[in-house]
Amino acid sequence: MSAVLRSPCWAKRGYTVEASTGRAENKEYLKDLGASHILSRDDVYDGRLRPLASGRWAGVVDPVGGEQLASILGQLHYEGAVAVSGLTGGAKVPTQVYPFILRGNSLIGIDSVNCPMEKRKKVWHRMANDLKIKEVFNLIKVVHTLEEVPETLETILQGKTRGRSIVKLRE
Ligand SMILES: NC(=O)c1ccc[n+]([C@@H]2O[C@H](COP(=O)([O-])OP(=O)(O)OC[C@H]3O[C@@H](n4cnc5c(N)ncnc54)[C@H](OP(=O)(O)O)[C@@H]3O)[C@@H](O)[C@H]2O)c1
Repeated sequence: MSAVLRSPCWAKRGYTVEASTGRAENKEYLKDLGASHILSRDDVYDGRLRPLASGRWAGVVDPVGGEQLASILGQLHYEGAVAVSGLTGGAKVPTQVYPFILRGNSLIGIDSVNCPMEKRKKVWHRMANDLKIKEVFNLIKVVHTLEEVPETLETILQGKTRGRSIVKLRE
């Protein structure tokens, strides 16, 4: 699953959520997760980079990086923020300083590998209690057996999966 404002939790906090995907078949699924509007990848980045385009979003969660992230940075409202978690679209982000110095925007890194346990617990607590994330998690999780792992990995590599795959090791 992809890019912009892909945060169902935000809908619960009163924001209007837009989600982007390159796969039309995921539109209804994203609406079920809390998105009001579904954007195509081209809606987010049409191939032309503008360091300061019209402001569209207060906050963005972006797993794509690359040129898409640079495009998003140019489309944040004043004092907007983008949290980046991945580099599916590339590690190089061809941005400029303007979104930061003229709009006070922020680029925030998400690290799930070295994140300390104390911080994880705080985040999990907020997800469980403030945002009541359980119903969303039930929608995104797909449980596999250990035997299904090779086939599942193949599907992931082909970009055909969605949500989070969980491997159940025992009954
Ligand atoms: N921050 C961390 O601690 C951490 C930890 C592990 C992994 N990662 C990184 O996170 C990234 C993937 O993580 P994930 O599984 O969470 O992401 P994900 O939800 O699978 O996001 C990847 C999605 O981006 C979209 N996409 C793929 N290529 C694109 C392109 N060229 N332009 C625009 N959108 C594109 C696809 O969505 P649609 O098909 O719906 O468009 C794809 O499903 C990897 O780069 C990985 O290295 C980060």
